[in-house]
Amino acid sequence: MPNATEDLFTPIHKGLRAMIYALSSRLQTNDFADLAATEALARDLETDFAIARSAGCAICILHHHAEDEELSIFPETARAGSPIVNGLIEEHHDLTRRELELGRAAQGILGLTEPAQRIAAGIALNAMANDLVVRYLAHMNREEAELVPWMRERFTDPQMAAMRGAIIGRLPPDRLFAILGWMLPSLNLTELSDLLLAVRPGLPPPALRAVVDLCEARVDPSRWGAVKARVGL
Ligand SMILES: [Fe+2]
Ligand SMILES: [Fe+2]
Repeated sequence: MPNATEDLFTPIHKGLRAMIYALSSRLQTNDFADLAATEALARDLETDFAIARSAGCAICILHHHAEDEELSIFPETARAGSPIVNGLIEEHHDLTRRELELGRAAQGILGLTEPAQRIAAGIALNAMANDLVVRYLAHMNREEAELVPWMRERFTDPQMAAMRGAIIGRLPPDRLFAILGWMLPSLNLTELSDLLLAVRPGLPPPALRAVVDLCEARVDPSRWGAVKARVGL
């Protein structure tokens, strides 16, 4: 038994949780009578996944995350006999359906001319989003609670690192940096320091510079200061 320590889910899920909390906060405080503010909110609920014109749109990131797991992690776990992978994929399909409904509902609000109509539709949009959020959070909890320990018993750390490498290798830079923009500020001092120490030797200087700049811009300044001191940046 490998008894590995890698965790392919929790770090990225931390970023997704932060993004979901931020989106929920914006949704419940949005003034749907204000069309310009509602248009800006709807851009975060863009569902044109294929074009992903705004790679940073929250719904796109949620959708792509599930796709990344299905392409690079779940085939390996299915081959190794995981009893829960099919259930997780079914949950992905349900989440995608709800993401699309939410995006369509947001677009629909933009077509309403009366502020009172938009306010009423905004209440329904919040309820729909709350429903998606509780399911997405429960899904991530399940992956962490059930799949992480299961994989540690069956895969070595290098095998799991290769799965993560496959995900990162397939990500276009705009998607990679959109996800890192949520993930890096969501890691604690030790996690962020360890991550930077792990990736630094393999990154070309411009890529390392881009990651450091992103941390500079997004990570809480006091935590980033402590990380820099620990990593020697
Ligand atoms: Fe998933
Ligand atoms: Fe996940």
